[in-house]
Amino acid sequence: MATDLRKDAREHLVPHFTRSAVWQSDELPVIVRGDGCAIYDDQGRRYIDGLAGLFCVNIGHGRGDIAAAAAKQMEQLAYSPVWSATHPAAVEAATLITELAPGDLDAVFFVSSGSEAVESAIKFARQYHRRQGQEQRTKFIARDFSYHGTTMGALSLTGVPGYRAPFGPLLDGVFHVPNTLGATIPPGGSARDLPCIQAIEEVLEREGPETFAAIFAEPVQNGRGALVPPDGYWQELRAICDRYGILLVADEVINAFGRLGHWFGVERFGVQPDMLTFAKGSTSGYAPLGGVLVRRPLADTVFAGDDGIFTHGATWGGHPVATAVAQANISALRSEAVLDNVRANAPHLERSLQALVAPHPSVKEVRGTGYFYAIELMADRDSGQELTEEQSLVLLRQVLPTAMRKVGLVTRPDDRGATMLLLSPPLIADRGVIDELLGMVDAVLTEADRYTHR
Ligand SMILES: Cc1ncc(COP(=O)(O)O)c(C=O)c1O
Repeated sequence: MATDLRKDAREHLVPHFTRSAVWQSDELPVIVRGDGCAIYDDQGRRYIDGLAGLFCVNIGHGRGDIAAAAAKQMEQLAYSPVWSATHPAAVEAATLITELAPGDLDAVFFVSSGSEAVESAIKFARQYHRRQGQEQRTKFIARDFSYHGTTMGALSLTGVPGYRAPFGPLLDGVFHVPNTLGATIPPGGSARDLPCIQAIEEVLEREGPETFAAIFAEPVQNGRGALVPPDGYWQELRAICDRYGILLVADEVINAFGRLGHWFGVERFGVQPDMLTFAKGSTSGYAPLGGVLVRRPLADTVFAGDDGIFTHGATWGGHPVATAVAQANISALRSEAVLDNVRANAPHLERSLQALVAPHPSVKEVRGTGYFYAIELMADRDSGQELTEEQSLVLLRQVLPTAMRKVGLVTRPDDRGATMLLLSPPLIADRGVIDELLGMVDAVLTEADRYTHR
């Protein structure tokens, strides 16, 4: 008897961030195979993977060489901890990643996900300050509608109200400030005068800057839709942190490993963070890996003396298979000049997405850079009418998913602060794939127009 995967999933598998109605539906996608920028369902239907899995399959699907690297490592040494011992795969991956990382981000603490990376950076910041005799530095700043993960520390930084609401009380002393949506510097002005920068100064002044451990920010923020900050914003973050002895943490779980056309997103803005969290693209999703890059002097402080220790760890941290996969993936991204592909095609992708605004009255704005975009929707651009709550729900739950399925596109309708469609294709997407993707997005937006203007 053929296995009924949907039925078994309903009965035995607990989904992540998925409404019951989607899980119960007979149309629940069952994805069985991937190849390059395409994935295939159990009916043999092909979809363009417009989200690179979940912003992670940077090198594309179906790479036999990466699978072979994993198999080789499993045969040689499937498991050994980075805990009172080490193994070649973790050391080599750490060496490779620190070679690529900017400045003196020379030490890597490996974990198995983005949430764990953020959680580890929170703990590292607190322990670092303690080692310096500044145990009062326990507070953090993050931004509205940012997503930093789901474990209780990372969730405390996450600024999406709906994700936080069911789980309080969260970590004390986390303050959210406005993100960079709509932040523009007037001619002759400076980033220092931006309301989103002033808000940080105000929080610090009110709470006492000497009580803050770190500021967390994504170079380009995903939550609220591919928010590219204005020039000078990151320099201001750096200056504030330097002024008050606060650590600057770039959360690059999405941005790192090529999404913006650079190894690390901060390179695009020319700023050196004190810590940098990564995950997804480090293995292109072929194995679970995350990590925190730490500036050498910070690591030296925590590890100073014979008893120096970061009192934190996990069984799977620096897993041999995951780190061997990271090496294979990053080496392939490098030798195949995949970041050059992003830089070469991103202007065409961005221009073409911007060109979709005019013909679609339901498009409010297109934002983003590199291979990372958000299309924000509204009811009618000409009259300035926003979507009602009901229209937004119908778009997110029915119109967009149905249209995407019809054209064979997988991407993400998003409701974090606005109604949006997110795009983040594999970084190997060439001009042909990009144009195919754009045609599909055009068709999906036509369905959105049809609904909002019926
Ligand atoms: C910026 C950022 N930080 C942290 C996370 C959490 O990563 P994970 O889902 O691997 O726990 C994500 C996930 O999307 C993210 O985008």
